[in-house]
Amino acid sequence: MRYLPELFAANARWSDDMRAADPDFFAGLAALQSPAYLWIGCSDSRVPANQITGLRPGEVFVHRNVANLMVHTDLNCLSVMHYAIDVLKVQHIIVCGHYGCGGVRAALEGPALGLIDNWLRHIQDARDRHRDFLNALPDDATRWRAMCEINVIEQVRNVARTTLVADAWKRGQALVLHGWIYGLQDGRLHDLQTALKSGPELDLVIDQAVQAVQSRYLNVQET
Ligand code: CO
Repeated sequence: MRYLPELFAANARWSDDMRAADPDFFAGLAALQSPAYLWIGCSDSRVPANQITGLRPGEVFVHRNVANLMVHTDLNCLSVMHYAIDVLKVQHIIVCGHYGCGGVRAALEGPALGLIDNWLRHIQDARDRHRDFLNALPDDATRWRAMCEINVIEQVRNVARTTLVADAWKRGQALVLHGWIYGLQDGRLHDLQTALKSGPELDLVIDQAVQAVQSRYLNVQET
């Protein structure tokens, strides 16, 4: 093995360990995957979906991109969602952002990085929608932290607005959307209270989630 032998050695050890614990583990997975969750997360190397949720191979279907965005014209994300909803029949879609997201910070700071600025433009659209709230915050660090949360909520809104999710709900398929955020500092997940089970509750749930973020940050500022 010429390249990256340490990774192949680690893989061999992992495979052996898994089979020692459960000789049929890989055979079962090779025959079928039936994950209950679709994870839409950031590509950031510090936020691996399986490890931080304690889920094993086969238990979570994963899509990751810079800053965990659901862009309505992104055929990649839409295809992942289509397969997850229509074929795998996942019961939960989790949009998971994280504090300290470089993509969110770059979007707040403005264009500077090149091609990726076009991708981050979608976060800036969300930022502009919440401009008054963000401007009321005391400093850039607080704005960055708050925007990481707001971005998750806006992406849950985008997921809910896809024809894929709307059609699933229309035909009575059980599907719950969630917005979570992960702390790089302590490895803990936090629920941003966006649990959505149907189209009609979309605006109310998203508005309440946004208001919860706003009151949390603005109250902290007053004390
Ligand atoms: Co990130």
